[in-house]
Amino acid sequence: MRDVAKQAGVSITTVSHVINSTRFVSPELRGRVLEAMKALRYRPNMLARGLRLKETRIIGLLVPDNVNPFFAQVSRVVEDVGFMAGYSVILCNCDGKLEKELAYVDLLAAKQVDGIVFIATGGEKQIVDLLSEIGIPFVMADRQIENADVDMVLVDNFGGGHRATSYLLSLGHRRIGCITGPHDATPSADRVRGYRAAMRDCGLDRIDDLIVPGDFRHDGGEKAMLQLLDLAEPPTAVFACNDLMAIGALSALWSRGIRVPENMSLIGFDDIPEARLTIPPLTTMAQPIAEIGKQATEMLLERASSEVAIARRKVLLDVHLLERGSCATRASG
Ligand code: RIB
Repeated sequence: MRDVAKQAGVSITTVSHVINSTRFVSPELRGRVLEAMKALRYRPNMLARGLRLKETRIIGLLVPDNVNPFFAQVSRVVEDVGFMAGYSVILCNCDGKLEKELAYVDLLAAKQVDGIVFIATGGEKQIVDLLSEIGIPFVMADRQIENADVDMVLVDNFGGGHRATSYLLSLGHRRIGCITGPHDATPSADRVRGYRAAMRDCGLDRIDDLIVPGDFRHDGGEKAMLQLLDLAEPPTAVFACNDLMAIGALSALWSRGIRVPENMSLIGFDDIPEARLTIPPLTTMAQPIAEIGKQATEMLLERASSEVAIARRKVLLDVHLLERGSCATRASG
């Protein structure tokens, strides 16, 4: 530990806090300590660490944006399943920021939680490496880290994007816009890949002007829809990569006097409760939101309470088209 402290330029106490997660250490200092440990191939005394691990019956849940109804619903189910099993849940809203994710991982480790359900902001591997380093059992839900050997509960985002777009194509639309989520959110990237594949299957591959960046929030959807409406040749239908942006897009269409679905078809993704309350009710790709929360929590509790090693599992759930009232056959002319 002395050599690690010297190499990292920190005190031995700081090295100890990083190893045992007994106090918050800034991401910068933590990084220096972990780098020094790696460079010196230092491994703390696992027996000593093992002594600290006693059950606390607490699990952590990290989400990117707790006001988004999708994450609120997942959180509700994680809490329900955890409570039924005798666990409390600490909800950590990370605001889509890596530094908050790191700070919350430190906090949860210091509280010696029994496990963590982790919905990543941008699929950052650093957090997964840190969780593995500390030795807290965890399950990733909704968002994934490519090629990481970790428990995951995901949905078929590529298939969902392809299905949403094929549905609009089947209604006769050819100028179909796509409002994406944040560039680093893996579900959005996969949905956009599905959109592009469906358009390509129809011989439509000159579509870059129809793909507009959003942020998985109302305002991003409203702004993106206005951009699409200002194109020289606006779309006749739009696929929004989540329902909040589709709801924001409805507001933009209303502000321009454009009727849905008569003059514009619109489909979302998620099926949050608000989707059926819009005017017209939103057609969307429905995710099994409750099932995501349930399977992730059950997988975590099994791993956290198991005395034997369990092989990593990757669950892929389906999404399905939920037709309501925001899509129609392309108007002639
Ligand atoms: O609405 C929030 C989005 O972020 C959802 O589509 C969900 O898949 C998450 O990734």
